[in-house]
This record gives sequence, C-alpha cells and structure tokens, in this order.
Amino acid sequence: MDGFVIQGGLALEGKVKVHGAKNSILPVLAASLLNRSREPIRLVKVPDLHDVKAMLKILTRLGAVVTADGEDIILRTDQVDCFHIPEQLMREMRSSIFLMGPLLGRLGKASMCYPGGCAIGNRPIDLHLQGLQALGAIIEEKDGFINARGKLKGGEVYLSYPSVGATENLIMAGVLARGKTVIHNAAREPEIIDLQNFLNTIGAQVEGAGSSTVTVTGVPEVGGGCYRVYPDRIVAGTYMIAAVITGGTVTVEEIIPGHLEAVTGLLLEAGISVESGDNWITVHGGPARAVSRVEIYPYPGIPTDLQPPLMTMLSLARGKSLVVENVFPRRFRHVAGLNKMGARISLQGNRALIQGVTRLRGAAVEATDLRAGAALVLAGLAARGETVVYGRQYIERGYENLDLVLNSLGARVEPVTLSLQGLEAQHA
Ligand code: UD1
Repeated sequence: MDGFVIQGGLALEGKVKVHGAKNSILPVLAASLLNRSREPIRLVKVPDLHDVKAMLKILTRLGAVVTADGEDIILRTDQVDCFHIPEQLMREMRSSIFLMGPLLGRLGKASMCYPGGCAIGNRPIDLHLQGLQALGAIIEEKDGFINARGKLKGGEVYLSYPSVGATENLIMAGVLARGKTVIHNAAREPEIIDLQNFLNTIGAQVEGAGSSTVTVTGVPEVGGGCYRVYPDRIVAGTYMIAAVITGGTVTVEEIIPGHLEAVTGLLLEAGISVESGDNWITVHGGPARAVSRVEIYPYPGIPTDLQPPLMTMLSLARGKSLVVENVFPRRFRHVAGLNKMGARISLQGNRALIQGVTRLRGAAVEATDLRAGAALVLAGLAARGETVVYGRQYIERGYENLDLVLNSLGARVEPVTLSLQGLEAQHA
C-alpha cells in the first residue's frame, strides 16, 4: 500500500509552477484519434500523471504510436484501426467513456465496458449515450459492454444536465460527422474551451465553447498540429488552500487567474488575503473564518473537485460552515478521514455541516479517490504530529510530484510503501 507520510505544522512558503490540466489533456488525447492523416500531433508539456499514462496505454492499444520528446508527446494516429477498449484498460481510467465519440467519428464503431460506479458516487453515462444516439449512433448494451456503431450526422442535442464529459464526447463526435451538431445546455468549464481550441488547431470547426451552446460544423478530415493545454486550475486551487491552512504564503504561477475566480472569491469571504496578476495568484494564509454556505456548482461555480480540499480548510476555520454538493451529491468519502483527524463534520444527504476546530491531529487515513486524497494530505500539512495518507496511487492520478512540490515549499512529505497492518500498529 503506497502512502505519504507527512510531518504537520510547517507553514508553506514559496512559488509553484502549475502543470497542465488533467481534465484537459485527457479529452485532448482522446480527440487525437480523429486525425487519420500522417501528420503527427505534438502536445506540449504534458503532465506526468497516472491518468495520462493510462490514456496513452489505451491509445497505443487502439493503434496509435506515442513518442515522448522531453516533456512533449508526439502522437501518430494514422494506423488506428481498433475500436475495442479492453476491460482492464477501461477500468484503469473511468473517464475513458469519452473515447466513444472520437472512435465513432473515426471508425464508425466503438466498444467498451460500462464504467460503473466509483468512490465519488455513481457515474452514469446516460447523457453520453442519448447524445450519441441523437447523432445517429446505434447503441447496444449487453453484459456490461456497450457496443456503438453508425455513421454520425449532425443534429441538435439538449443535455438535461451540463455534463462535462458528455459535452466533450459530443463535440468530438460532431467533428467528422456530416453537417452541424448543436449542443444545448453544454458544460461551460474551461476544459471545454481547451478542447475546442485544440480541435480547431487540427482543423475542426467548433465554436461557442465556454457558453451553453456549442456548435460543431462537421469537416471531412482533420490533420496534425501542436498544442499546449491550460494549466490545472484544480491543482492551483489545492496549493492555494495549502497556503491558507498552514498559515504560509504561496504563489501559484503560470496559471489563468480567471479560471479560479469562484475559489478566490470564497477565500476572500473567509477573510484570506489574495493578490493576483496576469498569470499568478498569491495567497497569504492565516486563520480562515467559516463561510455560512458554500454551494458547489458546475463552472463558473466553485468546482466539485476542490470541495474536499475546501472542507479541510473549513474544518480549521472559526465558526460553522455549510457545504452543499450539487454536482456529485455523495462525494464525501474524505469526511471519515478528516473526522478521524479531529474535524467535526456531520453529513446529511448532499450537505456537510462543519464546526471549525482549532487543531487537527495526525492519524493514519485512507484516500479513497484523487481529491479526497488531496484533502487528507492538506489536513496532514496542518495537523499536529505525523499523518499517513495511504492510497497514494489515487493522488498520483492528478498531481504531478505532489510530495516534491510541497517539500519545495517547506513541507515534510515522504512517499512510502507500507502495509496496512503496519500502519495500524504504528498508529494504534
Ligand atoms: C468531469 C471531470 C471531474 C469533475 C466533473 C465535474 C474529467 C476527466 N473529469 O467528470 O474531475 O469532477 O467533470 O466538474 O474531466 N451525469 C449523469 N449522466 C451522464 C453524465 C453525468 O447523470 O451521462 C451526472 C453525474 O453523475 C454527476 C454530474 O452529472 O452528478 C456531473 O458529471 P460530469 O460533468 O459528467 O462529470 P465528468 O465528466 O464525469
């Protein structure tokens, strides 16, 4: 069992350059499948994350040739001819459902297993499938497998919820479809704009990303190109919160401050001092005030991916806060660990009531998913004594070198491989 051992109580000070966004690079990698030409696609400064490796494994299995060039990745996709994603690879990365749109667009066929549930709750894909059907796909579900086929043609799709993944899937499906695809009630996350910009770089015609109506005008083919994705706003937000809870000062650099407006607004509401410039934000940590009601909503709301780290912050704030999770209503698996460390959080449905405490104490806790893991690592940074967060493999899905970055800011975080029994004995 891999974990991080954290010696808490040190204020973080310094600057962090934020890596490319996981939630941008994954759909961009999937979208590369649309390129039938012999021209390569170069993706610049690709973050070194477990999920990226898992996606590259899938692309390779489908017939793509992936070459690393320093931090860049070069993708040749002209030989892609396989439309089936093996179950084991699919299980490694649930979000691979958005490969269905580009595979259908490219090969007229796609086959993969159902993604199933995960630690943050059910991950239904009804909106993906209904949308693809509206574009002409014939979809059969059998024994946990989804088989899709058909020559796609443009159409109007109304999403009953602005799902990020479904919006991306449908945009990619529309690129090589005949005619115009219009997606209504589309997700407005920056990652959708990133996908649009990438697709247009390789010759697609997508417009409207960032608004609730995205239009894709089908083109006969796309080609190669060079692209760098946006910086990861969730990683940036995590380091901003780390500054708050340790009472230090951290500057996140090479970011887009506009992507973090809702988070910055929340920190200001909690009485934290925040400065920002063109491509940086500095957070001067210190005791935060409780925030009476924090609503988690799709962009431009406060992102659900920062809800767990924000709960760590509010656990240490003066007074009572209420967090209402409107995106993944059951995303509270970090609460058991936080409470074990001395937080006072009670749950009711999609609401968490948090009574702030002055201190957290070190404990052995378990990361059940990526952002829950980030929340527990943050708690460990602020806690008195030693914390062991096991489930490091989840955290490495989305944070590049988390331990090294935190240590460069003055933290003491060490990656370890431990047995669960050993951990329990240590912390009994
Ligand atoms: C993406 C992000 C994830 C983030 C989430 C919300 C990636 C790889 N992952 O996930 O980090 O937490 O957006 O910002 O980009 N839903 C349905 N039916 C569907 C699809 C979704 O009911 O077909 C529901 C989900 O259960 C959830 C809500 O819609 O309650 C939001 O999900 P969605 O926006 O699709 O998230 P993902 O794309 O899976």
